[in-house]
Amino acid sequence: MTISPSTSISVAQTLPPCSAIPRLLQAPNPKAAAPLPPNLPGISSPRPAPQIDRVGFPENYQNEFKLIYVVDRPDNKQVRVICGNDIAAAVKPGKTFPYGSVFVMEIYHAKQDANGNILKDEKGQYIREALTAIFVHRKEKGFGADYLDDRSGEWEYIGYRPDKTYLPNAAPGKTNACASCHLRQAGKSEDYVFRKE
Ligand code: HEC
Repeated sequence: MTISPSTSISVAQTLPPCSAIPRLLQAPNPKAAAPLPPNLPGISSPRPAPQIDRVGFPENYQNEFKLIYVVDRPDNKQVRVICGNDIAAAVKPGKTFPYGSVFVMEIYHAKQDANGNILKDEKGQYIREALTAIFVHRKEKGFGADYLDDRSGEWEYIGYRPDKTYLPNAAPGKTNACASCHLRQAGKSEDYVFRKE
């Protein structure tokens, strides 16, 4: 997506709602996944993370959040739909997100044939099957401190199933890998968000 400086302010108004999933925008392939670091010395497993959920399930995000981009992931046979609330969606790539920014990433199982080959639609894009997870991160003042050395700015992370219960490996106390990967792969210059230009 190319945003000229003069139009960037109104981006949140011009983006479609999260539920308008037809591929309006296609992000480039993500950076190759870097391995996560081993457990930090002196810190017992599980690695440090907030013990309570201060992110919260973003009710009605399908209608209220803006669709930002869609990624087909061959490595894990997924389609990922990334949406942001109006505060987050209005921010230009490379800029810092204001407090109150919330992102959602819906993770869908990509449709496959009997041999596990990924099927594509007429545009060459993966076909979404079951929604398996809803990953969320929120930025608020002071958030993220409990991740200690794996802190990625002031974001906290959580993972839900579609029925809004916690994913066992992304529940409160279990989200260190989220912060750790966003810290190392998205980086400070992007405010730890993978939003593509
Ligand atoms: C191994 C690295 C890695 C881990 C671990 C990880 N993410 Fe991400 N995350 C990514 C990448 C890369 C993207 C961009 C979308 C893509 O290419 O799949 C992303 C995108 C996102 C987005 C969309 C907004 C953004 O930051 O770009 C959310 C929300 C998100 N992740 C939440 C989480 C949560 C919650 C967890 C933990 C339960 C988590 N992530 C764990 C790499 C990771």
